[in-house]
Amino acid sequence: MSKRLVDQLLPMEAHIEWRTLADEIAAHDIRYHQKDAPSISDAAYDALRQRYDALLAAFPELQKEATTIARVGAKPSEKFSKVRHAVPMLSLANTFSDEEVGEFVDRVRRFLDWPDSQELAFTAEPKIDGLSCSIRYENGVMKVAATRGDGEEGEDVTANVRTIRSIPHQLQGHAPDVIEIRGEVYMATEDFLALNARQEAEGKPPFANPRNAAAGSLRQLDPNITASRPLKFFAYAWGQIEGPMPSDTQSGMVLAFAAMGLPTNALTRRCASLSDMIAHYRLIEENRPTLGYDIDGVVYKVDDLALQQRLGFIARSPRWATARKFPAEQARTLLLGIDIQVGRTGALTPVAKLHPVTVGGVVVSNATLHNEDEIARKDVRIGDTVIVQRAGDVIPQIVSAVVEKRPADAKPYVFPHLCPACGSHAVRETDPKTGEPEAVRRCTAGLICPAQATERLKHFASRNAFDIEGLGDKQIEGFYADGLITRPRDIFTLEERDAHSLKKLKDREGFGALSVKKLFDAISERKSVTLNRFIFALGIRHVGETTAKQLARHFGSIERLREVAVKASEDGEAAKAELTDIDGIGPIVAGSIVDFFGETHNLEELDALMTHVTPEPLQAVAAASPVSGKTVVFTGSLERMTREEAKAMAERLGAKVSGSVSKKTDLVVAGPGAGSKLEDARKHGVEVITEDEWFERVGK
Ligand code: IVH
Repeated sequence: MSKRLVDQLLPMEAHIEWRTLADEIAAHDIRYHQKDAPSISDAAYDALRQRYDALLAAFPELQKEATTIARVGAKPSEKFSKVRHAVPMLSLANTFSDEEVGEFVDRVRRFLDWPDSQELAFTAEPKIDGLSCSIRYENGVMKVAATRGDGEEGEDVTANVRTIRSIPHQLQGHAPDVIEIRGEVYMATEDFLALNARQEAEGKPPFANPRNAAAGSLRQLDPNITASRPLKFFAYAWGQIEGPMPSDTQSGMVLAFAAMGLPTNALTRRCASLSDMIAHYRLIEENRPTLGYDIDGVVYKVDDLALQQRLGFIARSPRWATARKFPAEQARTLLLGIDIQVGRTGALTPVAKLHPVTVGGVVVSNATLHNEDEIARKDVRIGDTVIVQRAGDVIPQIVSAVVEKRPADAKPYVFPHLCPACGSHAVRETDPKTGEPEAVRRCTAGLICPAQATERLKHFASRNAFDIEGLGDKQIEGFYADGLITRPRDIFTLEERDAHSLKKLKDREGFGALSVKKLFDAISERKSVTLNRFIFALGIRHVGETTAKQLARHFGSIERLREVAVKASEDGEAAKAELTDIDGIGPIVAGSIVDFFGETHNLEELDALMTHVTPEPLQAVAAASPVSGKTVVFTGSLERMTREEAKAMAERLGAKVSGSVSKKTDLVVAGPGAGSKLEDARKHGVEVITEDEWFERVGK
């Protein structure tokens, strides 16, 4: 950033710098206040604020623009207590065209083996651009309301939800004994404009869009403030229900919600065919400007709840639903530079630094350029005017450069071949399958590269991994720089080393006796973590939270996973098959698991970690299921369910599904035409049952 004195700047330069600063400060505010993970020191933050204020003082005309950008210095969102959702709150997969909706319908039909000639109904309804909320009623009385949070645990906003006038404190008619109503809290356009006018009149910063206004209003520690903000609600889904189900269809459930006195969306329709689904999308799209509230697409859901049950989930979204998003919004701006970030696996990612611009109501100053080929293909050059696109909550992208506006001296971008963090060679490996170079260029230095090492440590301590409070990105960077923590194991010896050290942690900048004690306590607390968190924390490529959970469920211990992966790395085909047999684990993910455990330094780190940490096995998915913990093989042709469905069902019931029969197999479900697997079962003395017997056994 320019260090020139404010009064030496041209108005245009001041403008650019000021908007960039506003964006940067807003991002730091969020990290600091909402995520508790500041990435810069207080002093550095103060310097940004001082520069911001100095620019504003020298160029008062910027003041009027302060109203159109993100809120700077947002009020701290203080701590709410946490609520664990009885049933996780999921997200939706996205589709972007009529064709993709058709493919979604085809996938559902295929999974269910539903003949083309037979009607399969879906509901279609607007996708509300607000924030989701789960409201629990017991015996018809509102008990707890929570935000989505990470899907498993949200923030307790009961007192605030009680102030939303359209949400009943007591349900009408026959409500189930327990029902968690899920839906969207939003702010109507008109109310949003009035609120912003009020904010301005009071000299307060306005909100960027209705969604931010709704979120900011709901996540207030003082319910009186929430009460003064006009929030509304649409009910469209549910979590736990105890007692009789109000209906056996999605559309029936929404009608039942309305009968209970809950607000529901009038544009919810039951569609009997794909063409009805598309027609309803068009209708909603046409009416979008006059609805009076923001929507960002249409949601389709299988209407029959028994079919929803059969379809189940993949990862964090239901197989029975999808969102059809409206086309992305675009804007033009200047490409000021290209930053190369180094991730935890060494991937060099180009990030476009933009002159801040509002796209679809949000100020954008960074956008992804994906990789080196993408920059070359689009021939995007620093100094170019570029088209930026943003859809929903996805990372903004650069669509193209506006060639007519290219400065004469703009040169094609040359992607660095050296890692910007450590100077080592960065290479594109050859994809063994295609023989082509991989899209991503990676630093070859592994953990010797400080960027990779710190990114891996950050990942290790992060919220969904070890979740060590007080060990955020900023602290890790500081500890790494001083050599105090360079590997995960060092975290667990920090306290002991500090006890013997002359340079105490409590004397470090930004620390004190209390915060050091808190940090040590937080570390101690994590000497036992769930196995899935432990696996996720290892940072194995392609192993996200969902895969980590599947691995934890399947193997039950880190030792078992390690044993199989090490065996597979020594070219054990059967061991590799045990990995790829797990639902959702394909050859690529299996390959990176095998690679990880094939590296001696990883095994060494694992051994060291295990002397400090005890991973706890996950509880079985459905402990009461007669097949939980069993290894099942399906063979022959199945008549009542598709193979994919059989696998998903067995896994939902806590069983492991394998593709081959061995002495470890507990059960073979054989349909007509079963061949060699049946023989293998006889050979190993494994129990064989029919498909009908399977359904009897699992009580379906
Ligand atoms: S259904 C299990 N219906 O979109 C599926 N979601 O991208 C639960 N959303 O987190 C979601 N309008 O906050 C559903 N009519 C609608 C919706 C809707 C908005 C939000 C919701 C969800 C997100 C997923």
